[in-house]
Amino acid sequence: MMDPMDELRPPTRLMLTPGPSCISPRVYRALATPLVGHVDPWFTEFMGGVQELLRRVFQTENNITFPISASGTGGIETAVVNALEPGDEAIVCVNGVFSDRMAEIAERTGAKIHRVPAPFGRTVDPGDVRRAGQGRKIKFVGLAHGETSTGVVTKLEPFRKVADELGALLVVDSVATLAGVPLDVDRQGIDICFSGTQKAISAPPGMSPITVNARVEEMLRKRKTKVQSWYFDLTTVMNYWGKERTYHHTPPISLIYGLHEALRIVLEEGLEASWERHRQNQAALIAGLEAMGIRLFVENPEDRLPTVTSIYIPAGIDGVKARGRLLNEFNIEISGGLGEIKSTTWRIGLMGYSSQRANVLLFLDSLERVLLDQGMKLSIGAGIAAAASSFAHAEPVPVGHGR
Ligand SMILES: Cc1ncc(COP(=O)(O)O)c(C=O)c1O
Repeated sequence: MMDPMDELRPPTRLMLTPGPSCISPRVYRALATPLVGHVDPWFTEFMGGVQELLRRVFQTENNITFPISASGTGGIETAVVNALEPGDEAIVCVNGVFSDRMAEIAERTGAKIHRVPAPFGRTVDPGDVRRAGQGRKIKFVGLAHGETSTGVVTKLEPFRKVADELGALLVVDSVATLAGVPLDVDRQGIDICFSGTQKAISAPPGMSPITVNARVEEMLRKRKTKVQSWYFDLTTVMNYWGKERTYHHTPPISLIYGLHEALRIVLEEGLEASWERHRQNQAALIAGLEAMGIRLFVENPEDRLPTVTSIYIPAGIDGVKARGRLLNEFNIEISGGLGEIKSTTWRIGLMGYSSQRANVLLFLDSLERVLLDQGMKLSIGAGIAAAASSFAHAEPVPVGHGR
């Protein structure tokens, strides 16, 4: 039993989950630096630097670019409540729990939401979006670039094209992709893009970077009704994050320090190097898992999200027990499935600071031990050998990530 008066001493876990990921010692150091006031001139100048680094990571010149003081769900909320007014119509591509959440939040605005579904493990067909929008005035097409609940990545270009045909904005949830998967907000024509800090950026959870373009700024100016959320109203939050820097709410100053250091780490490595590291580490993980006879949930390799790998729990294995043993004996956390695939799948995250070669090998070795002990027939060492061979054939990438 924990005594509430005990000193805080959390275990040191290797988080191979779909978030949060582990964070660099450099980020821990930034979190422990002295607090200043949120309107202290030093801090208001520092905020400009954070915004500039966010623009580089999103690859945008958008003026409205800042971290919302809320987790990724706050990013979804901000995107949809600012874009929609009662009576509007919008399309949300639903292929998992998080894209479903976008639809659910959007439905609460009084707008009419057309859900365009795809089975879990697949991407939505842009042709279905075109058909759903034909003859309607659609405000936006929304989707999750990386659907974390299933481990699916969606190519954005076809959806930009359909959104153009419908005269609609493109709203992209990049919570599971920013800094880990190629994403270029300006070149790909994303009108509203939001993310989370706890995944490939590897800062603590609790902030949601967002960027919106000039077209959205214009739309905000033309709104007939007030944005229904006071907290997430971009027109007023920007009094603080814009030129004036006047009080709107008290932001999580220490988290912003941590985010700043994490963004510096991402940009020191370089976006392309980071994407390649995520790609290579997942390729080795997949090679190892398949050599152990484990089946991937996402059938089409092109649809596999580099940051999150969904697998079927092997037949005869007690999924909850196995994950518990990984955690308690090996200090490794992976996640169960979500939604309709909750009891049949596991999700392994390799994101940000957690996405390292050594972690792939350590995980495969630990998993092998756990599966063998539950009676699974395995060729001992086959997983590690396959992963090591995958690494041996990969282009060298920097091993460190902000150490
Ligand atoms: C794609 C996606 N969108 C939104 C969210 C919600 O983020 P949060 O849990 O930080 O509120 C998540 C969280 O995992 C996610 O993966």
